[in-house]
Amino acid sequence: MKLLIKNAAEIVTCSGYSSKKGKEMNDIKVIKNGTIVIENGIITDIGTNIKVDEKEYKVIDATGKSVLPGFVDSHTHFVFGGYREEEFDWRLKGQTYMEIMEKGGGIASSVKHTRNTTEEELVNLGKKRLDSMMNFGVTTVEGKSGYGLNLETELKQLRVMKKLNEIHSIDVIPTFLGAHSIPKEYKGKSDEYVEKLIKEMLPKVKEENLAKFCDVFCEKNVFTVEQSKKILLEAQKYGLKSKIHADEIVELGGAKLAAEINAVSADHLLQTSDAGIEKLANSSTIATLLPLTAFSLKENFANARKMIDSGCSVALATDMNPGSCFSNSIPLLISLATIYMNMTIEETITALTINGAAALGLEKEIGSIDKGKKADIIILEYPSYKFLPYHTGVNIIETVIKDGIVRRD
Ligand code: NIG
Ligand code: FE
Repeated sequence: MKLLIKNAAEIVTCSGYSSKKGKEMNDIKVIKNGTIVIENGIITDIGTNIKVDEKEYKVIDATGKSVLPGFVDSHTHFVFGGYREEEFDWRLKGQTYMEIMEKGGGIASSVKHTRNTTEEELVNLGKKRLDSMMNFGVTTVEGKSGYGLNLETELKQLRVMKKLNEIHSIDVIPTFLGAHSIPKEYKGKSDEYVEKLIKEMLPKVKEENLAKFCDVFCEKNVFTVEQSKKILLEAQKYGLKSKIHADEIVELGGAKLAAEINAVSADHLLQTSDAGIEKLANSSTIATLLPLTAFSLKENFANARKMIDSGCSVALATDMNPGSCFSNSIPLLISLATIYMNMTIEETITALTINGAAALGLEKEIGSIDKGKKADIIILEYPSYKFLPYHTGVNIIETVIKDGIVRRD
């Protein structure tokens, strides 16, 4: 299978880095009037003066269009049963996310529904959600468990992701988030739950090879820094790399912990102090920001400007989930990042491509248009990437190419 993309008004390659820190995030490397050659799902050439025998290729004429790497959504919770539309309404009326959680709603509500949803139903729901992501130009997505909080349902969620990865063209990268909340069976006995997670769940996740990462919701009244550290270090022994839901509602020290234990990413970071930002800037941990969540919860956005100016590697992701953020809208995310978080368009693109890939440890395979990388490519209906925030809130992705095959046009 050979594919040729020619006459592109511009190719935004995002090339040259394994992840971009600070000022480097503005360097997106644009080629004007370029060509991309693809064979067997891999980019074999890219440039301006490339001659090939077109008869051998499926040819896409990208005259007047901008071409970019596929977006990487590196933080979602897209496999879940049931919905929480009432909670959204309660929040509009003034209740907070934590108040709703404390009265038994929140994550506990999705746990109940997910436990009662069959694997088959979850696969069907997941398929539809992945279709919607692909429409927005997402070609790789991370998905977390965490709506089971018992062995059976945590494994069910992870198996659903494994299945979806096999049957859907989007690549699904699975994360074990057994430490998303204390299940009601363990109320007041969080240390016992941590033991169960370490002794019972982690070995099974490993045995079936169901996850690449382990994540923890390190938050006041959820998991302490000490508990988070214990879980993540145990998971590292099983080969699961670390991610942390850090400093979302209260600054507990999640960002610092992430840097200390070499986490691949620290996510949310709404409340992270200057000291925490400093720690991240001096580490290899990616700061993953989730503006759709802050927006949906009416919280202030993470301080992206300070993070980038301090030298952090920032990624952007949707956090798509049934509670705090029931949105996988990349156009809205781009608007929030550029208009409200004062990120440049170039920084925003970096955050959604190569830095998203780095947040999944996939910077060698995806995230830029480079020879030898997967041909995960999107084509806009306009000649410049600058239309992404300018056509505010509108999906301008015309074509999605995944593994060298046109999946949507
Ligand atoms: O990333 N913060 C914790 N977890 C999710 C919310 C999950 C939910 O509300 O169901 C998040 O925002
Ligand atoms: Fe999350």
